[in-house]
Amino acid sequence: MQKILVTGGAGYIGSHAVVELYQAGFQPVIIDNFANSQESALHGVESILGVKVPLHRIDCNDAEALRAVFAEEGSLRGVIHFAAYKAVGESLQKPLEYYQNNVGSLLTLLTVMREFGVAALVFSSSCTVYGTPDVLPVTEQTPTKQANSPYGATKQMGEDILRDVAAAPGNTLRTILLRYFNPIGAHASAKIGELPLGVPQNLIPYVTQTAAGIREQLTINGDTYDTPDGTNIRDYVHVVDLAKAHVVAVQRLLAGTGELVETFNVGTGRGNSVLEVVQAFERATGVKLNYKIGPPRPGDVPAIYADVTKSVQQLGFQTSSSLEEALGSAWKWQLSLADS
Ligand code: WQD
Repeated sequence: MQKILVTGGAGYIGSHAVVELYQAGFQPVIIDNFANSQESALHGVESILGVKVPLHRIDCNDAEALRAVFAEEGSLRGVIHFAAYKAVGESLQKPLEYYQNNVGSLLTLLTVMREFGVAALVFSSSCTVYGTPDVLPVTEQTPTKQANSPYGATKQMGEDILRDVAAAPGNTLRTILLRYFNPIGAHASAKIGELPLGVPQNLIPYVTQTAAGIREQLTINGDTYDTPDGTNIRDYVHVVDLAKAHVVAVQRLLAGTGELVETFNVGTGRGNSVLEVVQAFERATGVKLNYKIGPPRPGDVPAIYADVTKSVQQLGFQTSSSLEEALGSAWKWQLSLADS
């Protein structure tokens, strides 16, 4: 089995990618320092797969520790780099930590990959790089905008670093940049899912915690935007679909058929407003949601959703889950947490 290193493999998207990689015939090897993930996620992965996935408990910023993993694991065929801090609001409070962790770990990883001749990387990027788009839906050619947070800036820098590395003489690295839209939901088994630490910043965990009675009421951040119902529009993509996109990207890199650096949007190609999400959740679960309309959230993009033509035509990938299926899986996961 071809070994693929998954940094941040105990995280929300990482753990789902580990499951899909193994089930596609790869041998995932996890690196995680558990700064923003929990070991219980790996118990869930093992419960789904029936095998223990190799784990190295290290920080990607620690070059010596990273070298030791590359040396110990031997023939790594590629890397999927998830490990990063990812909270927009927190990044405004802790810019230095975000740049050090997100950009520093990428630079360290690229250095060690080059030393060991590992030449295939899938990079976790984000639709955040588009800022507030002038035209919708956004394609990969849509100009990226000045990021409105240090978190977004670290994703833009990551993309720039990878393009510059690929353009340098003698480069052998092949990279695929996956620009995620809004990952939601959980594995059908409800053994892995999103584990927000503290009060959820993202919409769906707040919705499921409200439905579960953990939170009193959902506040919808504004309904005076220039959208059909006034609430923000996003492209909500099932995390299992997103995980599968990573398997397809790894397969493309190992086949060596693409350009040295390729960028793909990973979304459904559909935009849904916050109110539409609430209504879809109620339909999917039969649970009435207690919510109110509050003020707009500073920094929010009014509307963004993906044009997925390039992913479909060149990567050969498209999502398969509906919004209601994704929301139903999120609810099933929330209920499983109540039982644990
Ligand atoms: C979605 C919509 C909120 C909570 C962020 C990052 C992005 C990616 C995904 C990492 C917005 C509204 C939310 C609530 C609400 N992260 N909302 N009440 O901001 O689109 O994207 O997370 O890759 O990079 O920017 O996601 O889930 O926070 O918000 O009304 O209690 O839900 O205002 O319109 P966002 P989100």
